[in-house]
Amino acid sequence: MPQLSINVDHVATVRQARGVKEPDPVTAAAIAELAGADGIVVHLREDRRHIQDRDVKILKQTVKTKLNLEMAATSEMQQIALEIRPQMVTLVPERRQELTTEGGLDVGLHKETLKPFIETLRAEGIAVSLFINPDLEQVKASHWVGADFVEIHTGIFSDAETLEKREMEFERILDAVKLASKLGLGVNAGHGLDYRNISWFRGIKEIEEFSIGHSVVARAVLVGFERAVREMVYLVRSL
Ligand code: PXP
Repeated sequence: MPQLSINVDHVATVRQARGVKEPDPVTAAAIAELAGADGIVVHLREDRRHIQDRDVKILKQTVKTKLNLEMAATSEMQQIALEIRPQMVTLVPERRQELTTEGGLDVGLHKETLKPFIETLRAEGIAVSLFINPDLEQVKASHWVGADFVEIHTGIFSDAETLEKREMEFERILDAVKLASKLGLGVNAGHGLDYRNISWFRGIKEIEEFSIGHSVVARAVLVGFERAVREMVYLVRSL
């Protein structure tokens, strides 16, 4: 049975929009765990646009399942990871202007720098995953640089506007998943997965874990909206 890790970055985005203390991604992480999530994911970006250093530090102390820290392969982030020691680091590419992580890492291009970067983290007992496009060359390069896991980018599949494109991309995902597993890499998958497209992944035993954020937070906002309004209506009516 695959596992589910919940990404709580969007909760921090709402908090940062006001520069206040709530909603706290740490609280959201605790609720996710109470609801059965197998892990918590946060992306500490270089620009700190949502998750803050304080969040990652507290999460390491409070998360009872496992903490997966997404980050760019920079020396600043490596230092933070070595201090905080999450159970897993997922290396992602980062461009300042992007709305979210847009593509996978080009592992082949950066393999000479990634190899020692990964070794340093692994030597401290931190498992390393690489977020890659479903591309066989990227899978092979991930194996070469000594990653423990790959996270296959499902964003193009999720965004596909026609069934034909979606099926084509899904085939690429399947091929990448099979090769990664054959090479002995653990396999995670994520980006853009939602309450509808998750059913495509039924029975793919090689995928150990799905990492999902946006669709869950988006649903929480709408599913919880009526109750939240009712509670405020009650308070205003009681004035
Ligand atoms: N995996 C990675 C590497 C990501 O960067 C993200 C987005 O932060 C996700 C998974 C989750 O994607 P989504 O928010 O679309 O579910």
